[in-house]
Amino acid sequence: MQEHAMVLLFRAHGHLSYDGEGVTQLEHAWQCGQLALQANALPALQLAAWLHDAGHLVTGLGDTPTLQGVDDRHEESGARLLSSHFPEAVFEPVRWHVEAKRYMVASIPGYRARLSADSVRSLALQGGPMSPEECQRFEANPHCMDAQRLRVWDDVSKRMDWPLVDEERICGELQTLIARVLQAA
Ligand SMILES: [Fe+2]
Ligand SMILES: [Fe+2]
Repeated sequence: MQEHAMVLLFRAHGHLSYDGEGVTQLEHAWQCGQLALQANALPALQLAAWLHDAGHLVTGLGDTPTLQGVDDRHEESGARLLSSHFPEAVFEPVRWHVEAKRYMVASIPGYRARLSADSVRSLALQGGPMSPEECQRFEANPHCMDAQRLRVWDDVSKRMDWPLVDEERICGELQTLIARVLQAA
């Protein structure tokens, strides 16, 4: 069976490091998808978790652009890319996963302290914590809850002590999940 374009994207660029924190983009994506699976998320949200940083893979900016003071707007490029393949339930949580961080920093005590160094660095580039008005607007967004769930998994998907990932196996898992989401759409 022909592999989906998203699987091929990870095969080509998944070796890029994630945040310079010791895991690759492929490992980060897989860990995030695993956490969504363990949380019994619907397949579309599992796929959103898997593909939430696909935008990083298509910007051509390489590893950790925040170190150069660059916000690569990967949530927008990722959502745009995914919207040509998948339903809204996949690409909208991806579009809002950065705004979810800005919202959670503003509204959840102690959340900021749990963020990685790169997430804190990118927060400033992404506009910092939301204002009360921005928080209100975000709460009215129909994807607010899914984006926050994704964000929680994203924040902890940088585990270097997880078993070493077998690329063939996890690319197979991604292909199966994609087929399941597309079948249900
Ligand atoms: Fe991201
Ligand atoms: Fe991420």
